[in-house]
Amino acid sequence: MNRNEELFLIKSIAELLNKETKMEEMLQEVLNLLLELSNLQTGWIFLFDEQHDFQLVAYAHLPEALEYKKRKHLCEGGCRCIDRCLGGKLLKATNIIECERIEYAINEKRGNHEGIIRHASVPIKSGDHLYGLLNVASPHKLQFNHDELHILESVAFQIGTACARIRLSEQEKTMHILEERNRLARDLHDSVNQNLFSIMYTAKGTKGISDNLDIHESLDEIYNLSKESLAEMKDLIWQLRSDYIKEGLKRRFERYGKKLKLSVTCHFYEEKLPGYLETTIWKIGQEALNNVSKHANASKVFINLTVDTQSPYVTFVVEDNGCGFIVDQASTGFGLTSMRERANLIDGNCYITSKLNKGTTVSVHIPLRKEGNTIGN
Ligand SMILES: Nc1ncnc2c1ncn2[C@@H]1O[C@H](COP(=O)(O)OP(=O)(O)OP(=O)(O)O)[C@@H](O)[C@H]1O
Ligand SMILES: [Mg+2]
Repeated sequence: MNRNEELFLIKSIAELLNKETKMEEMLQEVLNLLLELSNLQTGWIFLFDEQHDFQLVAYAHLPEALEYKKRKHLCEGGCRCIDRCLGGKLLKATNIIECERIEYAINEKRGNHEGIIRHASVPIKSGDHLYGLLNVASPHKLQFNHDELHILESVAFQIGTACARIRLSEQEKTMHILEERNRLARDLHDSVNQNLFSIMYTAKGTKGISDNLDIHESLDEIYNLSKESLAEMKDLIWQLRSDYIKEGLKRRFERYGKKLKLSVTCHFYEEKLPGYLETTIWKIGQEALNNVSKHANASKVFINLTVDTQSPYVTFVVEDNGCGFIVDQASTGFGLTSMRERANLIDGNCYITSKLNKGTTVSVHIPLRKEGNTIGN
């Protein structure tokens, strides 16, 4: 690359990064542009999370051997470049002499490697914070020269700064949502909640100024309805509060079971799940408990959540010892369908098994993928 081409590359990447707002999209776009404007053939980017786990989030023009089985050799296992990067030993753009991932794919004859044998690695950082790792390669290229590594480093610096900006804006958005939910909870508490309370006690007080039994009956109805609504409102307000979001899932199910007057025993082997999973499991679990309360006449409910980090899968089970039902002949409510749909939406499954007079089991299996936490219902 000549000087002008280098400057054009740096400027184009800066322009692109300046307008991107989503992490993974940004990383894919910047990789595409880097390959388009340089003489590099292929590349891939790993993103790190706080637990130092990595995820392949962007890739382009991979050779057949690395594309093998949905990029299995890039997505799984460890390698020296990631270890060095996470261990703080890969501080700048470096030639990787031997890449285990490529070597393995070649040795195991996973397809044509298209002359891709070695790659250069550059950490993606902003300040002290390490976000990921950029790897690039070209056919039969065994060594990147000083200038090439220098350019890659400049690009990685720009990407790191964009990562920091996007993360900050994600955190701000989350904070904003939490503040908004708290405000709504406060307003509901101070308006509707207080009014319901007044209606309830006005109905009670009004009974004293009339002997008419029909009026008494209506006032009792008003009293009971406003009391129920008050309890519902309290629950809603609690669900809106950010403390509720911070409260673990297990605690929430115990609380919900208590509200439905069910005897619920929870065993949770993992408390902290990604946001998308937590919301789905909470919604499915709520419907399963609603069904137990409405239809099962059960004396006990067991809720289990396990995470298999090897596969990785989350298994969530709600089991009751109630009257059971014939699943194929169940009346068509929305509950069972929406539990299955919710699991399918995030590539999981929900199975319902039941035996008359023995009870019902709702089993949910959902793949565990890494994702930024999302808050919401
Ligand atoms: N745990 C359970 N024990 C016994 N019967 C159940 C249980 N869960 C579901 N059922 C049966 O399956 C039927 C369908 O459940 P589904 O949740 O789809 O609808 P629903 O609860 O009747 O209505 P909704 O649309 O409000 O959920 C129920 O009407 C009930 O007969
Ligand atoms: Mg239901």
